[in-house]
Amino acid sequence: LRITPGNGGLPKLLIETGGSTAEIYLHGAHVTGFQKKGEPPLLFMSARSEFVAGAPIRGGVPVIFPWFGPREGFPSHGTARLSEWTILQTALLPDGSVRVDLALAGADDFEVGFVVTAGDSLGMELTVKNTGDAGRSFANCLHTYFQVGDIHKVSISGLQGTGYTDSLTARSEVEAGPSILIDREVDRIYQDTTATVDIHDPSLGRTIHVAKSGSNSTVVWNPWIDKSIRMPDFGDEEYLQMLCVESGNIAKNQITLAPSASSTLKVEISSSAL
Ligand code: BG6
Repeated sequence: LRITPGNGGLPKLLIETGGSTAEIYLHGAHVTGFQKKGEPPLLFMSARSEFVAGAPIRGGVPVIFPWFGPREGFPSHGTARLSEWTILQTALLPDGSVRVDLALAGADDFEVGFVVTAGDSLGMELTVKNTGDAGRSFANCLHTYFQVGDIHKVSISGLQGTGYTDSLTARSEVEAGPSILIDREVDRIYQDTTATVDIHDPSLGRTIHVAKSGSNSTVVWNPWIDKSIRMPDFGDEEYLQMLCVESGNIAKNQITLAPSASSTLKVEISSSAL
């Protein structure tokens, strides 16, 4: 476990446990890598990402808080991913995994903590406490970018029968089939779902499992061709090797906390051979 200057000179925590490696930038408390020995990286990182104060990192796991999506006059997806976080403590757990506790300073009326546990799987826990004297609402999301071999061959399961808002049309739909294929731009907020989502990736010979708790929304996103070209910090062809499956609490499922109350969003990511 050590801190080194990462891209752009931003401080980066490197974790090596028995069979896995992980890295976390303090900028955004952003997990930019997780890899089990002998396997391809689990997380996608854009080769065009910025690494600079004030800009989000493209790839890995942006921590989205306290709002999701665009907000007029404010940065997209909230301020947590643009903030510098501090490390509270690190620990080696009995099973050999490494736990890192981070904190976000200066979030008005909120105390925000993020715990990353890297071992055979990657665990992430975002805890928000209302430290103000009135009720407060917020959205949150662990906006996870996964590395896939070939998006054309990927299928996603776990969301059959779930209602979603299609962010491209603003229409409400219901997921009819057992698996979702990505063959165009997809940008959907699935609601009222606590299900584990599996990403089947025959090209890399693995299934990625995204298990969660404290989350009622799941976002599925791939920018496809035109949006990739429009995004300055994303390669034109990178959509072929990535898929976002994001766990959080968004829009109608945003969280309201009474004074002194707290809530935790937990995501556990693992993989198994196909
Ligand atoms: C996804 C949204 O979660 O994030 C997309 O559903 C958005 O609409 C994407 O394009 C990336 O957002 P940003 O702010 O990181 O470019």
